[in-house]
Amino acid sequence: MSSQPFTEVRFLAGQIGETVRLRGWVRNARTSKTRFVELRDGSGFVQCVVGAADADPESYELAGKLTQESAISLRGIVQQHPKTGQPEVLVQSLELIGGSTDFPITPKEHGTEFLMENRHLWLRSKRQWAILRIRHTLVKGIRDFFDEDGFTLLDSPILTPSACEGTSTLFGTDYFHEGTAFLSQSGQLYQEPGIAAFGKVYCFGPTFRAEKSKTRRHLTEFWMVEPEVAFAHLDDVMVLGERMTKFLLQRVLEGRQEELKILERDTAPLETALNNAFAHMSYTEAVDKLKELGSDINWGEDFGNDDETMLMTALDRPLWVSKFPKAFKAFYMEPDPVDPRLALGADLLAPEGYGEVIGGGERASDLQYLLDQIKVHELNRADYEWYLDIRKYGSVPHAGFGMGLERAVAWICKLPHVRETIPYPRMMGTLRP
Ligand code: 4AD
Ligand code: MG
Repeated sequence: MSSQPFTEVRFLAGQIGETVRLRGWVRNARTSKTRFVELRDGSGFVQCVVGAADADPESYELAGKLTQESAISLRGIVQQHPKTGQPEVLVQSLELIGGSTDFPITPKEHGTEFLMENRHLWLRSKRQWAILRIRHTLVKGIRDFFDEDGFTLLDSPILTPSACEGTSTLFGTDYFHEGTAFLSQSGQLYQEPGIAAFGKVYCFGPTFRAEKSKTRRHLTEFWMVEPEVAFAHLDDVMVLGERMTKFLLQRVLEGRQEELKILERDTAPLETALNNAFAHMSYTEAVDKLKELGSDINWGEDFGNDDETMLMTALDRPLWVSKFPKAFKAFYMEPDPVDPRLALGADLLAPEGYGEVIGGGERASDLQYLLDQIKVHELNRADYEWYLDIRKYGSVPHAGFGMGLERAVAWICKLPHVRETIPYPRMMGTLRP
């Protein structure tokens, strides 16, 4: 075959009239007198038309035998589909690179369990392609947002000696003479020292929770972005979280129209979130509202998934809930100076029933208060000495948050479950492939 370089499907709209070479996989092949091959190369999808008059005889014959997911290369002329206006390729020659027999995932409906077992193959489907490209755009958007805002990336470790978010969801692993190390639940504790070195820092990496709950929002391994800002208070992180969320919504709406269409995502709710100030409510107001709506929640209890969903039913934009009872929040939270029963935390709940996507707030900056909290939460002081140092040498008010990437992808793509938002989901009962 010729030495002409291969193009990519994403460039074809600018190559109308040109002869090109493509390679990829057969998504679908239909055979009548003319043969239609839907090709995907990872950058997009294109219809290739193999007619007896245009293609050489061997290629025409091969096109009639192509099976789903065969890998092929071809050469042809790019033209515009008369009705859709989309580029298509009029094939001149075609070669088989790798055959495929009985690909397990066919266009018919499959159960989720089967698809999850075949996750490594399921990734090829159009819907998964669209979701994971949106995930990609969020990751890039997150990095760009913090970079443009003057943050320094400070990677937190994954193997840690102690808990950040309570001791009940820790994964342990053998760690030489130290005994047990835990997979990080959050990079936050390691970001806090960073503010005294860099002012504004963030980490973005995998986090682990041994969650025994099987819900559509929980993974045992998920990605979290965690900014931390010196001299910031509760209100400042809510402003930051709102700016970041809107930046990300804009990126996806601008750059991922094709993917949103594949997912049949109605973008109006995303535009509403982008173009309006987020709503605000205190925890106490939220509990009153929930009671009004028929929830049996009592003041002092954490929201369940159903409460979060209920709270959002009448709202068309994200909601910040702030100032929670400190009893069910983490040890590191700054107490509310007005009402010491409360902690200066804030959660961002997404509309359309998605619930919490961001959790964060202001951190306790007083050494003695933190020491007391470590006792109250029955944590081992020795594990946190280094963390307490920040309160000894130039302690300043500071605040930050964590956004779960998969929760954000699920909301933006409007998916029923977080398992499709990550290439290889890890959940209770799911470790393979
Ligand atoms: O609310 P969380 O537990 O907060 C923290 O970990 C703080 N240390 C973050 C910080 O202030 N730096 O978790 C933060 C976010 C949640 O809002 C949610 O989006 C996500 O992480 N998250 C999960 N996502 C998927 N599966 C789980 N099991 C999750 N647990 C939390
Ligand atoms: Mg939370």
